[in-house]
Parts: sequence; C-alpha cells; structure tokens
Amino acid sequence: MAYYIGIDVGTQSSRVVAVDDTGSLVATGDGAHTMQTPRPGWSEQDPNEWWLAVRTAARELATRIDIGEVRGIGMTGQMHGSVFLDEQDQVIRPALLWNDQRTAAQSDWMTAVAGEELLRIALNPAITGFQAPKIIWLRDEEPDHFARIRSVLLPKDYVRFRLTGERATDVADASGTLLFDVARRRWSKELLSAFEIPAEWMPAAFEGPDDTGRISPAVAADLGLPAGIPVAAGGGDNSAAAIGTGIVLPGVVSSSVGSSGVVFAYSEHPTPPPDRRRHPLCHSVPGAYHYLGVSLAAGLSLRGLREILLDDVFGAAVPAGADAYDLLTARATTAPPGAEGLVFLPYLTGERTPHMDPAARGAFVGLTSRHTPAHLARAVMEGVTFALRDSLTLMRDLGLPVERVIATGGGARSPMWRQMQADILGAPVWRTAAEEGPAHGAALLGGVVAGAFKGVTEAVEASVQMLDPLDPRTERSARYDHYFAIYRDLYGSLRQAGRRLTELAEAL
Ligand code: XUL
Repeated sequence: MAYYIGIDVGTQSSRVVAVDDTGSLVATGDGAHTMQTPRPGWSEQDPNEWWLAVRTAARELATRIDIGEVRGIGMTGQMHGSVFLDEQDQVIRPALLWNDQRTAAQSDWMTAVAGEELLRIALNPAITGFQAPKIIWLRDEEPDHFARIRSVLLPKDYVRFRLTGERATDVADASGTLLFDVARRRWSKELLSAFEIPAEWMPAAFEGPDDTGRISPAVAADLGLPAGIPVAAGGGDNSAAAIGTGIVLPGVVSSSVGSSGVVFAYSEHPTPPPDRRRHPLCHSVPGAYHYLGVSLAAGLSLRGLREILLDDVFGAAVPAGADAYDLLTARATTAPPGAEGLVFLPYLTGERTPHMDPAARGAFVGLTSRHTPAHLARAVMEGVTFALRDSLTLMRDLGLPVERVIATGGGARSPMWRQMQADILGAPVWRTAAEEGPAHGAALLGGVVAGAFKGVTEAVEASVQMLDPLDPRTERSARYDHYFAIYRDLYGSLRQAGRRLTELAEAL
C-alpha cells in the first residue's frame, strides 16, 4: 500500500503522520522538543533538536507502517521563527520563535522605515512575532552573528533543508515574514531593500502542493524511506491545519487550541482589514488567502497552569505523563460555568489578537477563598475560549460568514470543551474525524505532490470528515456573554499595572 507523510515541526513536539491513498490517517510518530526562555519574553529552540525529533518520530512511524512504501512528503510547522545559517550551512544561534517578544524596538524601527509599505505589500504591520524583526534584532544585538548569515529559514524549512538540501518555503509561511508581497505571492524586493536584508538570504517560495525537491540518498538510507520521493512545499501550521480540517471554502472557520489559539477564516481576496489586528495571509490552497486571529498562549496557558500550580496542588494525584488537557478538563468539569466569578486573561507571553501588545500580562481576576484548583482550571479554559471569541468577533466584523466552527487541536479533544466553545463562540462547533490538523494537511499535500490526488480540494473532499455538531445552548451563551464583557474590559483596566510590573521585574 502507498503512503504519504506529513511532517509537523511543532513548538512542543514534532509529529510525522501517514495517510493512505484515500487520505485517511493511518499512523503517527512523535518526537519531543525543549523550549528555552533565557529571559522573560524570549523564546528559543535549537533547530538541530527539531531534526532529531523528526528522525525519532519517523522511526516511531516506521514501527507502525512500512515506511519503504511512502511516495510523497508534505511539510508544516510553527510559523515565523528564524533559523540563521552560515556559509557552511551551520546553525549560527538558537532560533527565535513565533512567541518571542524581544523585538519591540526592531518592530518600531520597521514601522518608522516603511510602515506604509508594510501594510500595502505584506498586508500586516510590524509585530514582534513575525520573522523580519528577528533578523533585525540580530543586526542590532548580535552583529557578529549577523555578519555570518548566508541564509534565513522558517522552522519547517530547516527540516526540509536537512531532508533535501534545498532552500525552499511555501507562500503561506512566507506571508508571516513581513518580507513577502502577499497579493502577488512572491518575495518583495521593495521590503527587502527597505530593511536592508539581502534577497539571496531568502529561500525560493512555492504554492503549497508544489514539488520543492527530493529527499537525499543519505536521509533515505538513514530513515528507511525510498530514495528520491518528492517533498511538497506544504504550509505554515495554520494553513496546513486548514487543509486537514477542510477550511478550503468560505463559511467554515476553524478554532484551534495548540500552543497558540488560532481562529482561521478562508478568504478569496487578500484585502487588508481596516484595523490591522487580524493577519491576512496566503492560503496553502493555490491562489487563495486566509485571515488569522492569534492568541499567543492557549495550550501554553494550560501547560503553564499545570506546571506552576497543578503539580504542586494535586501532588501525587497527577499521574506521570498525564496529559495536561485531559487532566484540566476533568478538573474543570467539577466547577460551574463562569467559575463562580473567576476570570483568566491568557496573556502569558504578551498578546497578538486583538491587542497587538507584547507587554500584556496574564491574570486571574476575582479570586476568593471559595475558589479551588478546579475553578482555576475552568477559568483558564474559559479565558482561552474568550480569546478565541475575540478573534472570531474580528472575523465577523469583516463580514466573513461563520456558519460553522471546526474545533481542532487540544480544544477539540473533549466534548466538554467543544460545547464550551459553542456556548462562548455562539456558533455550532464540529470536529473532524482525524485529529492531526496540521500534520494531516501536510500529508494530503504530500499526496498531491506524489499524484495521488489531482489537487488540494480533491484531497480534502476525499478525506476530511466533519462530525459531532454541538449547538450553542441559549442560556449558557447568555451567561457567558456577561463574563465575556468583563473579560474584554479587564485588558484595558489592567494594562498600566502590567506595564509597571514588567518595568519593576526588569529593573531587578
Ligand atoms: C500564527 C502563529 C502560531 C504559530 C505556532 O501566526 O504565530 O499559530 O504558527 O504554532
């Protein structure tokens, strides 16, 4: 039997998944990463760890399927990160990640140098998470490293480089650099020259299903893959997940809780939104676009809660290796909606949508002596879902239709959280049969490049199954509306306090 695999270079781990020639998911493999936070607001990973994790995941997959039958590969992964390579193609320093917030000064510089051009060409303002400010940070803060750069890659494209020796990317991920002409779907000479970034540092950009090269004989021998199989461009994790969850037409929107919380809406046009708070980007469907609303710490809030609180509070009750989502969901179910007046702001690493504020801080507000860890768990899930609602509201304000929401990632796993999403978002929430959104989408693109499907839409129609619709419950929705109104006010009320706390913490 022929297989097509998707490689997902995530933030917390890398996945390698296989689909068959009907596009159905048949097996998965996993490899963990570490993330370094050398200072508050910084977040880095060693690109070599991604490569090792992908090899581990591929080896695990090989215990489940005959990996010698793989015919095509598609790539996906966390967006916006910067991998700096020198003349010998060695990694110069750890990659700065999508949720790294150190580049506020560089974003301000970019706005001063070419703010209008950015909005006109990249369709997005200079914000800390995207790739270009990270390159400029290296110029300003580590000039010796900057002087050695010969190429800059996005995370999944570094893994592609290790697989094929080719420097290539896809238009969706390239849209998240601030150096790309999103409407024309090619690198922008004007922006590269405004920011004095050599065009030759950038990889060739392709549409999602395009062939970017063949895996090298050495990698084929190492992993047991057939030599010479093609690697599709793929997509950043959000647009690849949109393929895996069927967001290839107007009216269907996805809400994903991975490390970040993302609302994704399909669009035929790349028109910039008036208030700059959502990201218009290229889609992995050739010629199409999408809007993204991104909350930076969704799954990361849950993981943070578990690490800083639940292990201590629950002590031995936390089984080794327990899944943070399952554990917290089980606890949260025992607290009532609204957590008896406790609200959580998930701004643990600043926030993008809707505030675009790297200095925003997280908070529990409304704590009383009645509250238990279960209330905290419930408030965190609700806070993360309120952040998704902020993004969805911005999509609705653009006039994009929202007929159904497809939940993916950790937020889709439990019926309790899907129902909470339906109640808070005020729209029917579905899930897809295959849970591996980004990796599944990448595998389908691997199927397209290998000729198993005629195109992306055909691959989606063949394989993506939507199930278990949950409608919003009127009474719960009304109750959550009140909590959401308070949640929205809290950012403004706490902003100054957050800034002063950050200044104090940095001064020490
Ligand atoms: C999107 C974004 C995140 C990352 C992490 O703009 O920053 O969703 O792709 O997965």
